[in-house]
Amino acid sequence: MWWRAARARRRIAGARAASTSAAAAGEKSCRAVVVPRFGGPEVLEVRQGVPVPDLKPGDVLVRARAVSINPLDLRMRSGYGRSIFEPVLPLIIGRDISGEVAATGTSVSSFTIGQEVFGALHPTAIRGTYTDYAILSQDELTSKPSTLSHVEASAIPFAALTAWRALHGTARISEGQRVLVIGGGGAVGLAAVQLAVAAGCSVSATCGTKSIEQVLAAGAEKAIDYTAEDTESAVKGKFDAVLDTIGVPETERIGINVLRKGGPYMTLQGKAAALADRYGLAVGLPAATAVLLKKQMQYRYSHGIDYWWTYMRADSEGLHEIQRLSGAGKLQIPVEKTFPISKVREAHEAKEKRLVPGKVVLEFD
Ligand SMILES: NC(=O)c1ccc[n+]([C@@H]2O[C@H](COP(=O)([O-])OP(=O)(O)OC[C@H]3O[C@@H](n4cnc5c(N)ncnc54)[C@H](OP(=O)(O)O)[C@@H]3O)[C@@H](O)[C@H]2O)c1
Repeated sequence: MWWRAARARRRIAGARAASTSAAAAGEKSCRAVVVPRFGGPEVLEVRQGVPVPDLKPGDVLVRARAVSINPLDLRMRSGYGRSIFEPVLPLIIGRDISGEVAATGTSVSSFTIGQEVFGALHPTAIRGTYTDYAILSQDELTSKPSTLSHVEASAIPFAALTAWRALHGTARISEGQRVLVIGGGGAVGLAAVQLAVAAGCSVSATCGTKSIEQVLAAGAEKAIDYTAEDTESAVKGKFDAVLDTIGVPETERIGINVLRKGGPYMTLQGKAAALADRYGLAVGLPAATAVLLKKQMQYRYSHGIDYWWTYMRADSEGLHEIQRLSGAGKLQIPVEKTFPISKVREAHEAKEKRLVPGKVVLEFD
């Protein structure tokens, strides 16, 4: 679960670095976008001279070429996850990355210096990717398909791994099943449509008017415009699994109602971080477990379905399949706009105010 990983990472963050120094790549400090205090886009600072920590044995130092902006980046900048991140301010945010290997830890044998890679950090990782030199574990990276640019590659991993974890880790989807994706127009939803189609499922998705064509092109059998149609009457029959990327009461109600008995309803809007932020880790995490168990019991009793909060998690098997599918052109997340890293404030503002409807990527010079 989210919080177990958070605790483990806090322990790891305190551990002494064990192996190859980042100095092997000639970098002891570098440029990074930091969040010195929580707030709006204006708090973001592009700083020089930010330390590059030593690598642990399984770490890889990546020279960033492109990082995509995820909703989590905006939320972390505003203080979401403060129970974990406040003690480590100033914080480097960012989860996704595409770039080149600059140095490797002593136990890394699967990557070579200069190799083009892409991947994503775990949601609770302390040092993010908005930096010239990011550090990821070897399990969080894979080689970048040569058919994708760094900008295109950076848009994929965090969203696709979130969808992978829900569909393959939680729902264990299989060929022939019917899957409903609520919010198929967003990055996670679009990745979910493509992953479910690749697994041989028949997929329906809800999305806004402008995303209908994109969702159908991704392989969905049916795309329901949630702004124009009544979703519940537009979807026909029962589904084996529902992934709800929106997770508001209305979408939850619909998702639960269209599931067959025993099927999993998965929302991306779990309450663990919000409760930990409000009450502290010691009280908030057990409270979150209690809330989840109550919901699970309630829905099992009332509808006979499985209710889950699902979270992105690093998964090397999933990442390799994501690499294979994206290299074959079967998994894409369109990039709407790019900004140079120096314009990170403008990029966050564009995402936050929804001035740009789709994926935004930051490029490094
Ligand atoms: N739990 C986790 O580990 C985890 C991981 C990743 C993301 N998330 C969360 O999941 C959500 C989606 O992330 P993302 O990266 O996919 O964001 P995104 O790319 O910004 O997509 C959000 C999309 O949601 C769609 N939408 C909004 N209201 C809707 C509704 N009522 N019905 C259907 N679609 C609706 C919009 O699509 P249209 O343009 O089609 O309207 C919008 O583009 C965010 O809240 C994010 O914080 C959680």
